[in-house]
Amino acid sequence: MKLNHLALLLLVSLSLLACQEAPEAPTAFSISSPSATTKIDLALQEDGSLGYAVFFKDQLVIDTSTFSFDFKSAPNLGKGLEVLSTETKEIRENWEMPWGEQREVVNNGNELQLNLREVVAPNRSLSITFRAYDDGVAYRYHFPEQEGKSELVIMDENTEFMLTGDHKVWWIPGDWDIYEHVYNETQFSAIDATSKRDNPNLAQTTIPENAVNTPVTLKTADGIYLSFHEANLTDYSGMTLKVDKDRMGFVSELVGSPDDSKVTRSLPFSTPWRTIQIADRAGDLIESNLIVNLNEPNKLEDVSWLKPMKYMGIWWEMHLGTSTWKLEGGKHGATTENAKRYIDFAAANGIEGLLVEGWNTGWERWIGFEDREGVFDFVTPYEDYDIEEVVRYGREKGVELVMHHETSAAPRTYEQQLDTAYALMKKLGIHSVKTGYVGKIIPAGQYHHGQWMVNHYRKVLEQAVKYEVAIDAHEPIKATGLRRTYPNMMTREGLRGQEFNAWSAEGGNPVDHLTVVAFTRMLAGPIDYTPGVFNLKIDPFKPDNRVRHTLAHELALYVVIYSPLQMVSDLPEHLEGQPGMQFVRDVAVDWEQSKVLDGEIGDFVVIARQERGGENWFVGGIGDENPRTLSVNFDFLPKGKTYTATIYKDGPNAHWESNPNELTIAQENVTADSKLAFDLVSGGGFAISLKVK
Ligand code: NOJ
Ligand code: CA
Repeated sequence: MKLNHLALLLLVSLSLLACQEAPEAPTAFSISSPSATTKIDLALQEDGSLGYAVFFKDQLVIDTSTFSFDFKSAPNLGKGLEVLSTETKEIRENWEMPWGEQREVVNNGNELQLNLREVVAPNRSLSITFRAYDDGVAYRYHFPEQEGKSELVIMDENTEFMLTGDHKVWWIPGDWDIYEHVYNETQFSAIDATSKRDNPNLAQTTIPENAVNTPVTLKTADGIYLSFHEANLTDYSGMTLKVDKDRMGFVSELVGSPDDSKVTRSLPFSTPWRTIQIADRAGDLIESNLIVNLNEPNKLEDVSWLKPMKYMGIWWEMHLGTSTWKLEGGKHGATTENAKRYIDFAAANGIEGLLVEGWNTGWERWIGFEDREGVFDFVTPYEDYDIEEVVRYGREKGVELVMHHETSAAPRTYEQQLDTAYALMKKLGIHSVKTGYVGKIIPAGQYHHGQWMVNHYRKVLEQAVKYEVAIDAHEPIKATGLRRTYPNMMTREGLRGQEFNAWSAEGGNPVDHLTVVAFTRMLAGPIDYTPGVFNLKIDPFKPDNRVRHTLAHELALYVVIYSPLQMVSDLPEHLEGQPGMQFVRDVAVDWEQSKVLDGEIGDFVVIARQERGGENWFVGGIGDENPRTLSVNFDFLPKGKTYTATIYKDGPNAHWESNPNELTIAQENVTADSKLAFDLVSGGGFAISLKVK
């Protein structure tokens, strides 16, 4: 049975007493963050399991929680432990992001490692490293070499996150294949992920039981925000969190494999970090660098070829249904001529990339075919697409192609083709690829988020480095901060993106979607949401679908939703001549610093970012379905400078449903002393570009 926190404290003091009387090994420990904002208390429990509890500003936020591991052909590990020794370390480091939400990252944390061993046979050892940061805590397990064993097969990891109350939770189901679900906002006790199995948009996803995916974000009745996730997911299965309503907490549940084991590893090895971001201001969750700080430093020697940019795509037209990926049927989108049309528009608007989907043969059989493994070779263009000519034309105009590799969830084919596919890209001078994994994984029984696929996604990343290729993964594994180690892991989907607005059965993403995404999915890392739809009603193409917010809100996404590759997704004919396009032309994609000015999960969020290597700032604010007034204090600007603010806001009669496109554009002078208020309509927002005078 779990001990409550008082019992844990009792154990702490008893063991301290014991320490004074006899030279017995201590059984309780504590570690605090550099400014003592967070604290982790650790104590061996009566049954010899290790309990941890977490405090934020002296308030208990994680009640006593333990861990254990189930193995194939070995007893459970987690009870009857003793602490053999401890090690401490101070982490004090500043590092630079080659691209990112900010240039400089401060990595200050305190570390305590407990080296544990079972008291009785088989006397297995295990170490756990705990880290306390001012913006959260983290811990990971280390399995050392074991006599007579070369590998471990983990049937499950049971890491607990026990809560201190029935908090509010923003969650998506713990799907083993796809993260493309609408966020739910419920109390912890009302989480019902199992009922989300029947999503008409997602073919046969696997949601085994009442579990949620991470990042999952919570708010306590006292206004403390918690977000559970993981960092450095390497050669291991993704973690979902089972909902334990009786004990009011989450317990980890790893993603499975064909034989029901969860992880197979040779010894020794370390698990990913289990992370808890903690804040008393919602925006601090977004500003937190905990996830990247827990990853290893950049392994790439040369990063000069990594280029944050905006890109267009022969893409939205397929989602609208006006053209097709496949050649058959006479509506092929990826033609030489069409690509040139997009390049012309991109070049005229300072957009440096063009994605061309459906360029390679195989799309006739990519989806819904059991034998689709091997349909794509990633080097053979359709007959109406002259890739060399498109590359040449693009180069002339300053637009580089973004390659497209849809694998149709057949990773074995892709792995076989990686070298040839990337060699072609290198030859053509293409430095980024959007990958895709639509459908159930082949072979059957593997899941997108299991260890086997985690290793596949990594292999792709590492191969890509050799050819100077950056990755934008769709249907990806979750982001866990690996962009620090492999900065060519630039962006990914892993959420309900813009495409759902074109074809989802519910008619589009909810009005408040991105006000939740900013505090949940975005804590993991960059998002290829693909903003830039100006024809918000999607008329006349999709009468039953639409984008459920205003144009000012859509523009604000370029600032609010961070991605170093940022799409301008609508068709050129919908963007041409639009006054709001000036913001898209101006807005930066790489940042010196970012500040979350204000926000409440699911209600609104306002973010300001300074252009990398420049003085310009950009501000984006988005709201939910409730009209509201948001004030912006410009005190983040340097003193003594005047900026020309170009403001894009909802027109007086705008409304996401009846009148989404009404946009008011105004200019005024702004300094660090300025304060401005913005009236957001239902589904509204505002975007500001600030240019120094
Ligand atoms: C799903 C991706 O999310 C989408 O952007 C892409 O167009 C299709 N797969 C086809 O690859
Ligand atoms: Ca997708």
